Amino acid sequence: MPMLGLGTAFMEKDAVYDTVRRAIQIGYRHFDCAPVYKNQSEVGDALSDAIDDGEVTREDLWITSKLWNDSHKYDDVESALEGTLEELQLDYLDLYMVHWPVAQANGTEIPKSKQDYIGEDEAALIDTWTAMEDCLDAELTNHIGMCNCNINTLNMLRYESTLEPEVLQIEMHPYLPQQPLYDFCRQAGIHIVAYAPLGSPGRPVEMRHTNEPHLFSEPAFLEMSSKHGISVAQAILSYGITRKTAIIPSSTNETHLSENFESVDMKLDREDLRQLIILPKFRFFKGEEFTSNGSPYRLTDLWEY
Ligand SMILES: NC(=O)c1ccc[n+]([C@@H]2O[C@H](COP(=O)([O-])OP(=O)(O)OC[C@H]3O[C@@H](n4cnc5c(N)ncnc54)[C@H](OP(=O)(O)O)[C@@H]3O)[C@@H](O)[C@H]2O)c1
Repeated sequence: MPMLGLGTAFMEKDAVYDTVRRAIQIGYRHFDCAPVYKNQSEVGDALSDAIDDGEVTREDLWITSKLWNDSHKYDDVESALEGTLEELQLDYLDLYMVHWPVAQANGTEIPKSKQDYIGEDEAALIDTWTAMEDCLDAELTNHIGMCNCNINTLNMLRYESTLEPEVLQIEMHPYLPQQPLYDFCRQAGIHIVAYAPLGSPGRPVEMRHTNEPHLFSEPAFLEMSSKHGISVAQAILSYGITRKTAIIPSSTNETHLSENFESVDMKLDREDLRQLIILPKFRFFKGEEFTSNGSPYRLTDLWEY
């Protein structure tokens, strides 16, 4: 997996095609997608045109997508993946991931009431995972993984499944080092993909919290920027690279796309990392929308606390 990919959530729909084309020209080969981002068709058009124009081959690319929560029943998983492949205009994915360990009723996006959940009784995560394994056997994806889950869930899948999760995608940045989960994955050989590696400053207003800290204003990163002659964003992204996680920053801005791409070769030193230990801890994606409104799930089903 290329260590740096382009996240495609929260992009203005109109900007997606040009952004993906531009990213490929800059050198991006890894794209992080999901049906819930509602722009896979635009990503697919851009990938297909870039391939047709000879800029890349399918084999050069690493395309990730995710199973939405409303398709967790065993019989729904493969057809959801086929729908995603159709949108992305691909024959196979490089990585297919369970987006959240939360089973919802068909057609639901963000659950509003108890009826929107089907839970473990109707769609046990182990059955969803068995269907993911079957997608792998059917060569619809080369790898499978999980997002947004904790050590308990990973252990359950490791002990009860045939194939352990190869990749875990979680929120990870200097405000959320997730050290126990990070150490667990390193020991278990599970590759981490860090989402929101810049602290997701562009999330829609309704997803923001009061008193959010802002990585770009942290004096430690301003200092690292002048010490290493790199931008503040590059200093923040170097944190993930230094910890050997993949990172998938999102941007539709051409200068930012290039700047972020270059950060893959940058590393922080011990002194830099020491300075970061004292930063406040903050989770931007709290997952409360999946643990409220009659949900059978608890935050402790998602996170290490
Ligand atoms: N699995 C999950 O549940 C999950 C959850 C959240 C996110 N994700 C994935 O992770 C990806 C990244 O997360 P994210 O988009 O929330 O947050 P992020 O990548 O941490 O932050 C993106 C924001 O940072 C800005 N930015 C990017 N590069 C910059 C630079 N060099 N200088 C200044 N600002 C810069 C972007 O604005 P500009 O466009 O103006 O550059 C955008 O608003 C998503 O796109 C998605 O693919 C997965």
